[in-house]
Amino acid sequence: MDILINRRSLIAHLGAVTSLLGVSDGTSAFAGSEGREVERLISRIDEVSGALRGELISITDWRVGIDELLSRIPPEDLVRGIDFDHLARRIGFAELGVTTAFIDFGVNEKRTLDFLPKLFAVDTGRSIIPHGHANMVSAHLPLSGSFRLRQYDQLSRDEQSLTIRPTVDRTIRSGDLSSIGEDDDNVHWFIAEEPSYTFDVIVTGLDETARQPYDIFNLDMEEAERVEGDALHVPRLTVSEALTKYG
Ligand SMILES: [Fe+2]
Repeated sequence: MDILINRRSLIAHLGAVTSLLGVSDGTSAFAGSEGREVERLISRIDEVSGALRGELISITDWRVGIDELLSRIPPEDLVRGIDFDHLARRIGFAELGVTTAFIDFGVNEKRTLDFLPKLFAVDTGRSIIPHGHANMVSAHLPLSGSFRLRQYDQLSRDEQSLTIRPTVDRTIRSGDLSSIGEDDDNVHWFIAEEPSYTFDVIVTGLDETARQPYDIFNLDMEEAERVEGDALHVPRLTVSEALTKYG
């Protein structure tokens, strides 16, 4: 597949492109070898995300680039580098759905990241409720535990529903990255099979002319109706409805 063959050249190219944009190295937020490794990783994720926001690369390129970057670091090093124990203790688990924490990489007031780094905690049987997106992309790396992950292409959308097509249904564990595209794999649904955590890379505001920096559409998968082929027509839910039913 061309995309896979071109990964290395994409990342090398981005390094060259984004250095021209004046992306700085930031300051070290964490001590030790994992801290420095994570700092380099965050800087590269920031470059790739900045290139996406600057329309220098496509969403497909961004997904490939994030996959490549996160595959370079063992998840256990990332766990140590983000001060995981402290964050996990602080947020605990939710009775429904997830708890999340912004991960502060020590970026100073002169520079903000072009992506939002977050930790998600999901207890056994709880879920990141099924939802689609607009005007944003995200990537999710399980750090521990396991999930049943389902993803769907978003084919169309109206005020009441989304029409989607299944693309992924598998178990993911530590190191198994998943990401969403603008339409491809845009809908996702994670059910934790044990106490689980993910490291998330989120980029919002892809279209600066859009009314909102991003939008999320929660879905009532139990009420999905098959339409053409394997496509599904799925009603939308409010957050509280979706959490009660799927969280
Ligand atoms: Fe999402």
